[in-house]
Amino acid sequence: MSRFLKLAALGMCALLAGGLLAGSLAIDPIAAAPKGVSAHKQATGEKRLNIGRAATLAEIAGWDIDIRPDGHGLPPGKGTVKAGEPLYMAECAACHGEFGESAGRWPILSGGGGTLASHDPVKSIGSYWPYVSTVMDYIRRSMPFGNAQSLTNDELYAITAYVLYLNDIVKTEDFELNDKNFATIKLPNESNFFDDDREKSEKAFWRKQPCMANCAPGEAKVTGRARAIDVTPESAKGPKAE
Ligand code: HEC
Repeated sequence: MSRFLKLAALGMCALLAGGLLAGSLAIDPIAAAPKGVSAHKQATGEKRLNIGRAATLAEIAGWDIDIRPDGHGLPPGKGTVKAGEPLYMAECAACHGEFGESAGRWPILSGGGGTLASHDPVKSIGSYWPYVSTVMDYIRRSMPFGNAQSLTNDELYAITAYVLYLNDIVKTEDFELNDKNFATIKLPNESNFFDDDREKSEKAFWRKQPCMANCAPGEAKVTGRARAIDVTPESAKGPKAE
């Protein structure tokens, strides 16, 4: 057999094998479905690729760790400001500073009160963030940076309590944050976060005829092009790039 023929024959076998495989999938996709396939899928005969297996409840629980502002999704636990201080010093201060003021160029966690409307707003947990759940959820899923999800639940509560203390949101070192009182703690900037209300608040603007006054008469025309009028400075004359 020539080399070409051999290759062609091999190709034929592959095609046949592929056809058989596809055939068996097409004939009975459900019989081969892994355990845990929903009754709905069984009944509708939804086709599956038979790759992998259904996730277990424990696996889903590992991913399903979001915490909502009303406390939904909180893990059970508790921790005081006092307990949080040494943990924060050991796990967080190297980057975020002993008072949350930041070390070097890492993000700040405190300060910035009253700066939001200024030219240079400083957006910290106390000055900007909406909910305590935003803080706890963030720390829970991603901090300490490089060793995420290494904190126990009680450590998480204690460190969150300490970060709230750094922001003057809780006032005493004896304060204990726990899954019962969590939703009662409010951050100062919460009321500035609200559902998009533009449909109502900008209703007057979204009319068929847009509000335009003092428009130039006639149609708009292109009268020049940047390339033609040579706006790019010559290298010798132009400002020096740093
Ligand atoms: C090795 C340095 C490092 C350590 C240690 C560390 N962080 Fe962070 N942290 C970061 C970096 C970097 C970011 C920004 C990450 C990003 O934007 O993706 C961040 C972001 C944050 C934010 C969000 C800040 C913002 O305004 O966006 C919070 C809250 C936070 N860290 C809390 C903590 C807590 C609490 C600890 C200790 C348990 C901790 N971090 C430990 C580096 C660190």
